[in-house]
Amino acid sequence: MKVKSSFFCSNCGSESPKWIGKCPSCGEWNTYHEEIIEKQVSSAEKEKVWKKATKEKPIPKKLEEVSPLSTLRLDTQDQELNRVLGGGLVAGSIILVGGQPGIGKSTLLLQLALRLNKKSLYVSGEESEEQIKMRADRVGCSNPSCYIYTEVNVSKILKEAALLEPDLVIIDSVQTLVSPFIDSAPGSISQIRECTAELQRFAKETNIPVFIIGHITKEGGIAGPKLLEHIVDVVLQFEGDQHYAYRILRTLKNRFGSTDEIGIYAMDAQGLQEIANPSELLVSPDDYHLSGSAVAASLEGLRPLLIETQALVSPAVYGTPQRSATGFDLRRLAMLLAVLEKRCGLAFGNQDVFLNIAGGIRVSDPSIDLAVVTALISSLQDIHVSKKMCFAGEVGLAGEIRPVSRIEQRIQEAGRLGFETIYVAKQKSGGIESKKFGIEVRTLTKVEDLLREIFG
Ligand code: TYD
Ligand code: MG
Repeated sequence: MKVKSSFFCSNCGSESPKWIGKCPSCGEWNTYHEEIIEKQVSSAEKEKVWKKATKEKPIPKKLEEVSPLSTLRLDTQDQELNRVLGGGLVAGSIILVGGQPGIGKSTLLLQLALRLNKKSLYVSGEESEEQIKMRADRVGCSNPSCYIYTEVNVSKILKEAALLEPDLVIIDSVQTLVSPFIDSAPGSISQIRECTAELQRFAKETNIPVFIIGHITKEGGIAGPKLLEHIVDVVLQFEGDQHYAYRILRTLKNRFGSTDEIGIYAMDAQGLQEIANPSELLVSPDDYHLSGSAVAASLEGLRPLLIETQALVSPAVYGTPQRSATGFDLRRLAMLLAVLEKRCGLAFGNQDVFLNIAGGIRVSDPSIDLAVVTALISSLQDIHVSKKMCFAGEVGLAGEIRPVSRIEQRIQEAGRLGFETIYVAKQKSGGIESKKFGIEVRTLTKVEDLLREIFG
């Protein structure tokens, strides 16, 4: 066999016969690496293939004859996972689960294999059989027809999978797989591409769904991200802070459902637990009437989430005051502080400011601004804000409070959880019927209003 090598971009997977400094397709610098690839078929040989085929029956079928997938969804026995997959697992789909090392990807999928009351195959190239057994004992579920296989060779894996005919295959992880047809090292772009393509062919031909675990690179992307995202049907990302118990499963791509859904779990000594009502856990009881915290009615994906924001403002001991934030953008915090200085004349300039979002959850929803601002003022003035109140609004540079999306849903959730008052921005389309939600809805237009309403 004639060995041929080529250069691949490690970011987007595009190919070049020569080394180049800047990738013409994704614009990244210094991402090209040489890899040995299999023998290429010459164009003359390719031509022969289709010329020879004219006498055979065509394989393509009529679109009308294809059965719709919606009827074939499999219940994963995990409501959070069902939700992010768009209502269950589609037969023959291929799902990539990405996340940082140690976040709980192996635990999540082993639990899936064990909970499913069907035949499942868990293939690991990272852990020994004993290690997997130990983990299975820890998560405390058992499935008599859960098979494990420690192997990295894709051809062997697929041969065994075809013999076993499971209802689900899990591959931990794509970076350990090797295809015997490719000469480069495991984890390289051409290996990952070839192995994923083989798994995809397997899934489509046998109608068995395949989960693939993928590690995230230090830049935060799944290795060779673009290239894998093209091949697979669903991309899920498992995220959270290792030092906190909460984990969020997010959909980045879904051919069979929406990408707005999220699943929330907590990692404890018995593995990952589904959290159906996260709001109840993310707001601590108001026992001591402490200053510096306020509850935000935020939205994660399509789910309303009541979450506590905590601030600590104290005179700076060293020359330069410190600003630190967990779960919130530091630059946004600086902007909110500047707005409070300018619009309300509150002096944060000589104060250290620390901000924390409960549970280590990273919130990207701008509606949390109003609660952050309230927590900051509460800590600065040492005035307690009742936890019967919650807030939803974005704060603009002029100190105006802007309306946020799906406000009715947020109000409804706050009402359901027993909050008495919710502060929102003045809505464009008239008022909100507060009676309907069993909660008082108060509107604010500027941060000055907030100061007057709450801090007197
Ligand atoms: P793991 O699933 O191995 O992560 P990944 O596959 O994403 O690298 O999760 C490992 C972490 O989870 C490890 O720090 C231990 C913790 N863990 C628990 O806290 N409780 C448990 O029941 C299990 C199985 C793991
Ligand atoms: Mg793992």
